[in-house]
Amino acid sequence: MPRQCYAALARSLYFSPLNQPPDGKRMKQDNILVIGANGQIGSVLTAALREVYGTYRVLATDIRPPLQESGPFEILDACQGEALDQLVHRQSITQIYHLAAILSASGEQDPLRAWNVNMTSLLNVLEIARQRHVAKVYFPSSIAVFGREARPVNTPQYEVLIPETVYGISKVAGENWANYYYRKYGLDVRSLRYPGIIGYQSMPGGGTTDYAVEIYHYAVQKRPYTCFLRADTALPMLYMPDAIRATLELMEAPANRLSVRIGYNLAGMTFTPAEIAHSIRQYLPDFSITYRPDYRQAIADSWPSSIDDSLARRDWGWRPQYDLDAMTKDMLLHLEQHYHLHGTTTEDR
Ligand code: NAD
Ligand code: SER
Repeated sequence: MPRQCYAALARSLYFSPLNQPPDGKRMKQDNILVIGANGQIGSVLTAALREVYGTYRVLATDIRPPLQESGPFEILDACQGEALDQLVHRQSITQIYHLAAILSASGEQDPLRAWNVNMTSLLNVLEIARQRHVAKVYFPSSIAVFGREARPVNTPQYEVLIPETVYGISKVAGENWANYYYRKYGLDVRSLRYPGIIGYQSMPGGGTTDYAVEIYHYAVQKRPYTCFLRADTALPMLYMPDAIRATLELMEAPANRLSVRIGYNLAGMTFTPAEIAHSIRQYLPDFSITYRPDYRQAIADSWPSSIDDSLARRDWGWRPQYDLDAMTKDMLLHLEQHYHLHGTTTEDR
């Protein structure tokens, strides 16, 4: 039997609501679909969900194959509604984590494509979840919902939303569609407005906050870094372990505790490129950075510098654990191990 057929057979045997996961652990009885699972957040979130629910209860999907398969995976374009519907039906999916999107900087290269991908995929997910009685849907929003009319410091949950990127427009519209499906149909859709997410496990996919990941890779390779934002550009950021924990905590929270059905404001830390460089120099004193702002500066300038996440704290007990220096220490430790073991370059990851 060809290798792919064995893989399909194994999936059909194990990824079934009637079977116990083969991990030997007592796992929760949900069947989870992750869309956009190979991305910066999806790859880490999929691994975390597999820890909670069991490897064979979490089906990873994306339009591109994974670098490394660590459980069930299928190619899926979330803009293809029929294919998504069949998958949800066939696998008796009970929760969908819809991470696929074109991010802020990439979106500005082809705004109509970004709108089409972000909205078509979300509407497919919401409508299929409604029709197939999916119990819970997760849809990440972003600080990109805010524009320069919003108060930039401690930006409140309910603030004027006039985003300046097509990505931000799609997130505002997406939040409203999520809220509509919740109110009209009772679909349990939950959402977080992530700040810029920083992690060592994966590379970012075309956002304005990507510099804050790239900079660590250059630093551990003893390479000078040219930052595409100005030295004094303060943005809200969050370390990956906090982002994953926030997502799992929100999805686990009792529905009656959630007062926000657009995206919850979520905060971790705020820093500028100069401050992250300073933090790195505590461990790598020779690290050097120069600044060459490009089109992403205007996007960053339209976003808040800090976020008021008091409703997330009140409703489901959100507390971030990492500040800038704790994150720097952890990032450098893991990336030094990675480059020591694999000897790859920034371009390889
Ligand atoms: P990413 O670009 O790294 O990953 C997105 C993944 O979606 C990619 O693997 C891509 O191949 C896949 N994809 C694209 N189009 C698809 C389609 N039509 N069907 C299926 N898969 C498709 O993005 P990320 O940083 O992991 O972000 C995940 C989600 O979190 C996005 O919705 C993003 O808007 C949101 N978010 C991310 C950040 C951040 O800093 N990373 C901040 C705020 C919000
Ligand atoms: N980090 C994301 C971006 O820069 C924010 O949604 O696009």
